[in-house]
Amino acid sequence: VVTAGGTQEPLDPVRHLTNRSSGKMGYALAEAARDRGAKVTLVTAPTALLEPVGVEVVNVHTAQEMLDVVKKAVNRTHALIMAAAVADYRPVKISENKIKKVMPTLTLELEKTPDILGTVKGDFVRVGFAAESQNLIENARRKLRQKQLDLIVANDITVTDSGFGADTDRVVIIDREGKVEKLPLLPKREVADKVLDRVVRLLTKT
Ligand code: CTP
Repeated sequence: VVTAGGTQEPLDPVRHLTNRSSGKMGYALAEAARDRGAKVTLVTAPTALLEPVGVEVVNVHTAQEMLDVVKKAVNRTHALIMAAAVADYRPVKISENKIKKVMPTLTLELEKTPDILGTVKGDFVRVGFAAESQNLIENARRKLRQKQLDLIVANDITVTDSGFGADTDRVVIIDREGKVEKLPLLPKREVADKVLDRVVRLLTKT
């Protein structure tokens, strides 16, 4: 099970809050896993990418929808790879009507979305992604621990050749033992294969 894209959290009938995730990493992972013979379910928030063939694609918009689909999809999975950029907050209230510009300022009240990796646990390999703009390794390690992940793939989003929207990534893979593998700048498809190599290693170990 692979997730991709940036979730969209509605505000009113014509607006939503989202982020700059392109979905490229998640789609590359889904395609790489498919090419290795895996049965892949790709749970994706909206992207501009073409649906990969040979993969079951489930389209979602919000973090809550992604959680609901992922919960069911992991029933018989060997691995959950959460490459999606899930919104951390959503509007408390979704306005039924379009919000009009009557006030000089507008304050939105936001509430936390459900933490998918924090919630969906089970007997499968769990891989998270960390997009960081500071203290990359320290923050990624904290997420790995907090979400009890097997692996975390950390991305420095301050460099233009890596992260959101780019076709290449310079990532660091950290495992449960705290071992850090720094990869060079690679096309996302090659990063995907490196991540899958590690997943396969974990699966054969168990
Ligand atoms: N994630 C998730 N559910 C959320 C938010 C994030 O499952 N509601 C997953 C992401 O898909 C990613 C990992 O958790 O694999 C880390 O996401 P990130 O947003 O970077 O971490 P947070 O724990 O939300 O921390 P922060 O935003 O404070 O950096």
